[in-house]
Amino acid sequence: MSTNSRGPGSTLFATSDLHISYQENREIVRGLHPRTPDDWLIVAGDIGELVADIEWTLRLLTERFAAVVWAPGNHELWTHPTDPVQLRGVARYRHLVELCRGLGVHTPEDPYPIWPGADGPVRIAPLFVGYDYSFRPAGAATKEQALARAHETGVVCADEYLLHPDPYPSREAWCRARVAETEERLAACDRSVPTVLVNHYPLVRQPTDVLYYPEFAQWCGTTATADWHTRFDTAAVVYGHLHIPRVTHYDGVRFEEVSVGYPREWRRRGDEAPAGLRQILPEVAR
Ligand SMILES: [Fe+2]
Ligand SMILES: [Fe+2]
Repeated sequence: MSTNSRGPGSTLFATSDLHISYQENREIVRGLHPRTPDDWLIVAGDIGELVADIEWTLRLLTERFAAVVWAPGNHELWTHPTDPVQLRGVARYRHLVELCRGLGVHTPEDPYPIWPGADGPVRIAPLFVGYDYSFRPAGAATKEQALARAHETGVVCADEYLLHPDPYPSREAWCRARVAETEERLAACDRSVPTVLVNHYPLVRQPTDVLYYPEFAQWCGTTATADWHTRFDTAAVVYGHLHIPRVTHYDGVRFEEVSVGYPREWRRRGDEAPAGLRQILPEVAR
């Protein structure tokens, strides 16, 4: 319980899919402020494509929030032709991790930080587990069939051209390796502290059921993480990528899709400009 003598305590906020190559979204980032200097911020991927943009955003946020926790999105991992940094795959990811460390931002490669909530400590675990084409559209038994369906409908994620898995032979092989090492780390965590799992993609498939193009789900996660929210004492799951901000519950666990999304998307929702921050903890009644 928080008390007046201790003040309101720290709030854990989250955001994702800031996509700051859009000027309107860069303005949203400029408007992201904590409520108190003790507040933490989770950034669940897709800040942008250019390393300089990612650095600009994270630097600004670390100057405002007591702690910033980052998990990579697919856009950060693109090797975009206009980025002076042309690193690919794991080398690009490691470069971004070092950039974060230089700014004091927590990454999936660091010890999971403990958020000092007024109601008790909570572990914040930024994850990077990727996708493996296992969220296939109905009737597609293999990755090849799923991809063929996507090409037929014209809904092909740009990752196919820009997100390189080097030195892994494929994005799904990179995903398999990430799942194995992440699972091991989570299993080794002290169970007396609950965990907020943060991943760019939803850890379960159900959130993708409402996608306008079901073929897109194959780029949105992996069935290998389907029970993580029940296996690892989970206070909440934070994700983005779908650009469908909402709150759902699976097996009694709260899943928060916290994306800002593209200007055309938030305008379609009727938002003049989205506030950009979602309160994760303490949990707010909705
Ligand atoms: Fe996104
Ligand atoms: Fe994404």
